[in-house]
Amino acid sequence: MNTFEINKIVGAFLLASLTATSLGMISRILVSPKAFTGHGAVVATAGAPKEAAPPAVLEPITPLLAAAPLDTGEKLAKQCLQCHTFEKAPTKKTIGPNLWNVVGGKRAGSAGFKYSPAMVNAGGDWGYDELNAFLANPKAAVKGTAMTFAGMKKPEERAAVVAFLRSLSDSPKPLP
Ligand code: HEC
Repeated sequence: MNTFEINKIVGAFLLASLTATSLGMISRILVSPKAFTGHGAVVATAGAPKEAAPPAVLEPITPLLAAAPLDTGEKLAKQCLQCHTFEKAPTKKTIGPNLWNVVGGKRAGSAGFKYSPAMVNAGGDWGYDELNAFLANPKAAVKGTAMTFAGMKKPEERAAVVAFLRSLSDSPKPLP
């Protein structure tokens, strides 16, 4: 075998492996789920598929109200004091309306407070179910509300806060 033949063999071998490598690359690109299914495939290749988010069901608080602890409600309601007052005759000015007599009262019913058009147009009363929905997710319950509060996810906590709000009155609304 002369050097020319050896060169041919080596050359053929190199060409063959180069071809194999590029074919492999091409086929990997072709079968890659990312290449043809886009974003969804990225999630699928990143491991087990994620569990679907639970449907947004609003748990009622009415069955919890009678046994809801007032002191817990009062503690939880401290986060509302950032923007609200609870007294019958508040002296402090806050960015939210006074909440005395809010349970069973009219929506946007605190005299002198400048509500958002969304709250004014929502109309109706603050019954237990309305308060439950509003406190769970203010923006979803009254679209366009000016209340920038993320909401309370736990029904027990909403029940405790509403039980406390109910006590802010000379004649609290009857329990459901
Ligand atoms: C970051 C400030 C802020 C926080 C915190 C906040 N609120 Fe509000 N809240 C507001 C504003 C502002 C409004 C008026 C909304 C509008 O006009 O759309 C409002 C309105 C309300 C109303 C309707 C009152 C009415 O007269 O119609 C209720 C009820 C209420 N808030 C309860 C609560 C409770 C309970 C908490 C605590 C768990 C809380 N808010 C936390 C700012 C806040």
